Amino acid sequence: MIIRPLNYENSKWSSSLKRAVEFILLIKMTTSYNAPTKRKKSSDQEYHVTNMRRFINEGKSLMKIPNFPKNNKFFYQRPDGKGWWMPIKQLAIRSYSNLYLKILQKQEFIDTCFIDPLSNYGMIKLTKNNGKDVLIMPGTSINVALISLKKKKGFSAYFINDIDPEIRGVIKSRFETLNQFYNNSLQFNIEPPDKGKIDSNEWVINVLNNITEKYDCPNYLMVIDNQGMDIGYKTIKKIRECHEYGDLIITFHDSAFSRSMHNQEKNKFFYGCEIDKYTGIQARRSIYIKQLKSIGFGRVEEISVRSEGNFFYTLLFCCRENVGAEWLKSIKYLRETRFKYCNAKFMKHIFDIAVRRIKPLNEFCY
Ligand SMILES: C[S@@+](CC[C@H](N)C(=O)[O-])C[C@H]1O[C@@H](n2cnc3c(N)ncnc32)[C@H](O)[C@@H]1O
Repeated sequence: MIIRPLNYENSKWSSSLKRAVEFILLIKMTTSYNAPTKRKKSSDQEYHVTNMRRFINEGKSLMKIPNFPKNNKFFYQRPDGKGWWMPIKQLAIRSYSNLYLKILQKQEFIDTCFIDPLSNYGMIKLTKNNGKDVLIMPGTSINVALISLKKKKGFSAYFINDIDPEIRGVIKSRFETLNQFYNNSLQFNIEPPDKGKIDSNEWVINVLNNITEKYDCPNYLMVIDNQGMDIGYKTIKKIRECHEYGDLIITFHDSAFSRSMHNQEKNKFFYGCEIDKYTGIQARRSIYIKQLKSIGFGRVEEISVRSEGNFFYTLLFCCRENVGAEWLKSIKYLRETRFKYCNAKFMKHIFDIAVRRIKPLNEFCY
């Protein structure tokens, strides 16, 4: 089984180059790396504390960058004590993009772009204990950029959008200052706020058309972090038709979506089909996954992100059919081990250990 890079059939590619590419890809497909289930070296608590400390330190470092927008308004945030599921989501995205780049960077002819059509401010702020405990950490785009900056070959370009012009202005200046700090090594594209509202349902298609024109052999990782039912099924279908070589991470709001069950117009926009109002939570997600599979995102792995009550949403990691996609195995591993008992309450506990407010249980054993 061989995946062929885009424009492969073009005459631009000489036949010997084609043969070399096929050979490399064949080797890639047939050499599997260690099954992730065997690699657990630290306890789950140590793993989460280490990652929480990383987020805390990154948040602190980012806030020290000269001219980095710091206004208290400019964060993706929730009222005190709420939203502590966000580090779980960011950790899953970070872990996945890290492995994604690690595997793809070995294939030098591929330009992998990062696309974030629902970016928000690029920074997250959570509080608890009546505002006394504060966690400031990178949101999706900046989180992924920080991972990429550590790689020999990271993302070739970033395409970022938010419908809200003010939010877009903030994330744009955050990327500008971050880029100055890192010697202009980030190629980012964010429309200025004076362009007004830009709906990503159209924007993302233009981005993919630009990418396929600009690069000989492009690939993309796209995070569709829906807040509501923001990116419609028709858009996902067009994304897929526009450019075959790319993978998606989609936020599917199981609990929240059950509230808009009666709005058939919205359902049709998001699921691409009508949904019976008595359809249960899991069945709705299954319908959505079936819809994704029918347009070629044939492989989907899920991670549940849980709040403290019954509220939860699912991250869907979607890859096209007929591809090795070793990175998908990491999601199965995370789901079955590291994230198995993880929820917002656990994350608050991990934060307390990370800032040394409480001792981890194992320290009492000595
Ligand atoms: C869940 S938030 C993203 C959070 C972000 N990923 C993070 O980790 O910090 C979703 C964002 O999508 C934006 N949005 C909603 N609908 C949109 C659309 N049709 N086009 C572009 N942006 C949209 C909202 O303004 C909001 O800022």
